[in-house]
Amino acid sequence: MSVQQNIPNDLESFWIPFTPNRQFKRDPRILVAAKDMHYTSLDGRQILDGSAGLWCVNAGHTRKKIVEAIQQNAATLDFAPAFQFANPMAFELATRIAELTPDPLNRIFFTNSGSESVDTALKIALAYHRARGEGQRTRLIGRERGYHGVGFGGISVGGMVNNRNVFGTMLSGVDHLPHTHNLKANAFTNGQPETGAELADRLEDLCALHDPSTIAAVIVEPMAGSTGVLVPPKGYLDRLRAICDKHGILLIFDEVITGFGRLGTNFAAQRFGVTPDLMTMAKGLTNAAVPMGAVACREDIYDAFDQGADHAINLFHGYTYSAHPMACAAGIATLDVYKEEKLFDRVGELESYWGEQVHAVLDDARHVIDVRNIGLVAAIELAPRDGEPTKRGFEAMIKAFEKGGMVRISGDIIALSPPFIISKDQIDDLFKLVRDVLSEID
Ligand SMILES: Cc1ncc(COP(=O)(O)O)c(C=O)c1O
Repeated sequence: MSVQQNIPNDLESFWIPFTPNRQFKRDPRILVAAKDMHYTSLDGRQILDGSAGLWCVNAGHTRKKIVEAIQQNAATLDFAPAFQFANPMAFELATRIAELTPDPLNRIFFTNSGSESVDTALKIALAYHRARGEGQRTRLIGRERGYHGVGFGGISVGGMVNNRNVFGTMLSGVDHLPHTHNLKANAFTNGQPETGAELADRLEDLCALHDPSTIAAVIVEPMAGSTGVLVPPKGYLDRLRAICDKHGILLIFDEVITGFGRLGTNFAAQRFGVTPDLMTMAKGLTNAAVPMGAVACREDIYDAFDQGADHAINLFHGYTYSAHPMACAAGIATLDVYKEEKLFDRVGELESYWGEQVHAVLDDARHVIDVRNIGLVAAIELAPRDGEPTKRGFEAMIKAFEKGGMVRISGDIIALSPPFIISKDQIDDLFKLVRDVLSEID
């Protein structure tokens, strides 16, 4: 399809998510094609993808094997219900995911997004306790600056203020741990910060406050992504795990961003050597070519639901599009590409170059108050402009696009997380582009 054919003539009807709509419709940033490391913009420019779309196109864009799997499947099995029926690819994909998750997280529930995965995991946690006769465990603990999608469960346990504060009612019985971001102690860290493991002990305080036998689950992103890349301090996740174990609380890792290689391992759980009880995923599962999410849970959690009569449904939960054949086909092909091209190992190999260069090029760039990184992720935190927080970050994103790069912003923090196929030259180009952008904005 030519670029010309894609030109929209009316921008009014589409309410664009998480976007200042008025500004966008005045000055749209429209993408019409993508291949490997680049988008093509409506005006025909090549845009270097510094954010893997929304942290999701891990293998690069429009990969042949994935495209063909989707095409072939679209003509073979358009839809099959996942309630009381199934398609064979759902079993294959679940088995393949279970090979990647840490044992014993080998039971896979399919959803269509990260938000749905989060709400699914929270519901499984609550229902699991009830199935075991601990129905009093109804409290959920999230963390400040956590992002767990946009469902009511996700925003309740989430800690990004703007995602919550105009929506009124949240789930009751939710509390939050403090976030781990400490610029004073940890600015310009390459990898995991040394300081902050003790922040996990605040979970003990919450246990004392609420009575630990009322707490069902703690949910955290092992590395918080959307809030601006908060890398867990050394030892922090181990301590959370130990406190959860002590009190019989389930630990949920939201791996929607960190899953599928972003930190050089299958999941962040393996990178940090801490195994949760439930794990959410989405994004990289299908290389974002078809929407899909999943929850991995411990085998014995699944078994706890498997106690009723033969005809009794064991979990009253699911989506029309759970395990959609097209998504399963895309997922299987995606996992093939990751494996054949050893893309998670490639992240591990690139990590030291990525980390050294991001600090070498950007630590002393204009406006920068912190640079932090892990795996193939980096954040460049800018000093907010006086009286106009988030505006400098926004302008940096616009300027980057004008200069041929896509970056992600969270307020005044620029987040970089390219596809794993990025070359060292492209890494250099990306960091130089950001440096140039910062030198040109006020
Ligand atoms: C950690 C985390 N959880 C959940 C979500 C929500 O995913 P989705 O936008 O697919 O609903 C995101 C999205 O960025 C995320 O980063």
